[in-house]
Amino acid sequence: MAAEPDAGPLYRRVLALVDELRLAESAPPAERRPVLQFQSPAQLAQQLPLTLGEPLPDESALLQLCRQVASYSVRTSDFRFRNQLYGGVDQYGLAGALLTECLNTNQHTFEVAPAFILCEAAVLEHVRQLIGWQDGDGIFAAGGSMANQYGLALARYHRHPEVKARGLFGRRPMVVFTSEDAHYSILKAAHWHGYGHDNVLAVPTDECGRMRPDALEAAVTRALAEDREPLVVNATCGTTVLGAFDPLPEIADICHRHGLWLHVDACWGGSALLSRRWRPVLAGLERADSVAWNPHKMLGAPLQCSLFVTRHAGLLHRCNAAAATYLFQQDKFYDVSFDTGDKSVQCGRKVDGFKLWLMWKAHGDAGLERRVDATFAAAGYCADQVAQRPGFRPVLASPQCANVCFWYVPPSLRGQEETAAWWERLSQVAPRVKEAMVRRGSLMVGYQPLPHKQLVNFFRLVFTGVPEMGPAEVDYMLDEIDSLGRDL
Ligand SMILES: Cc1ncc(COP(=O)(O)O)c(C=O)c1O
Repeated sequence: MAAEPDAGPLYRRVLALVDELRLAESAPPAERRPVLQFQSPAQLAQQLPLTLGEPLPDESALLQLCRQVASYSVRTSDFRFRNQLYGGVDQYGLAGALLTECLNTNQHTFEVAPAFILCEAAVLEHVRQLIGWQDGDGIFAAGGSMANQYGLALARYHRHPEVKARGLFGRRPMVVFTSEDAHYSILKAAHWHGYGHDNVLAVPTDECGRMRPDALEAAVTRALAEDREPLVVNATCGTTVLGAFDPLPEIADICHRHGLWLHVDACWGGSALLSRRWRPVLAGLERADSVAWNPHKMLGAPLQCSLFVTRHAGLLHRCNAAAATYLFQQDKFYDVSFDTGDKSVQCGRKVDGFKLWLMWKAHGDAGLERRVDATFAAAGYCADQVAQRPGFRPVLASPQCANVCFWYVPPSLRGQEETAAWWERLSQVAPRVKEAMVRRGSLMVGYQPLPHKQLVNFFRLVFTGVPEMGPAEVDYMLDEIDSLGRDL
């Protein structure tokens, strides 16, 4: 256990606590603490002294409070946390996050964030080069949902710059096309941007969850026939549940034919850019107008670390600038093109780019490539196990990204006719196993139904690059699901 300073400012004692928590994460499996200590909201509210008013007597009491909050928090850096599309934290990213928190800087002008502005620009340029663009622009955003919003905003500004001044009044509805398996952030964005949910056309997907180009073409034709204006296609590289990669070349052809903006939500699968082996799943990405990517997912950059890039230089600024004279004075004594904050929809913005920049400096292209390859390899091993183990049934023949989707069929349901009633009973298995794992604190794996594909509740085990996982960890997780579910 790391020594905890018993005097000095609270932040220093908290840093020692951080050290202790990090050390605990690398303990041998037998000595690991549960991944969480579940309490119901009412129980937890009893445990924590939540009410505010009087100050606590001293720093030791505050430290005690921090310990208590940490002990009730989910240990997302433990390999057993497989609940969403993120997991452990890269140590260099963490160092970057600590430094930026400590410097408490706003990433809007060169004046207040000189080094961070240059670091952000360097990462964005490197990413654009990886995509294959010689030119363009970009910005770090407050999460992938927000990065997708940048895509929709740019799409409209590119076609109708006058909307920025006049609004949407009196126009034909503009239509956003996205697959039925795409992330829900597109729906939310459609509301915020004034398109409306009804003007998001959900394009059907194939059996693997990939957008069907023929269905996209049909949806565009339908929108035109209804006197609506096709505007933008959101293609997904790495869908949230099935991990599907939409076929970009075919989609780009359709966009080209109809003059549509192509935004690619590569928030999850975009990390394949870093791997020579896996880059082909992103074929056609260079034809996109804009791309969103979340290094806080597969790469293990600390949350949040999301970026948006476009191949259209200058557009981001023209689209979003409001030219606040108190912040973005044009008569400053340095090159004000480095005051990049006016490209953003935010005023104050956290320094997220630096975390990734530092990670990249530490690992290099080759180190990050190894991380991506290891992630896909762990998912591949898991998929093989799921295909072989009694009681495990894959949802897809093979995973496309690092999502492994499967049903667990308990012995009581094996070898029976698979009637509607059987599927109904199977749909109750994943929620019950999930409850058991959370109460035991032994594992956290997500589950969901996909009603549009008539798929009842199934597990989605997602792999991320940090912590690195091998057969032992995968076997532990599948064994645990088996042990929690076998008596159902
Ligand atoms: C494909 C995809 N796009 C976008 C997002 C949204 O990212 P964020 O959670 O950073 O808003 C997610 C989240 O899981 C996602 O899976």
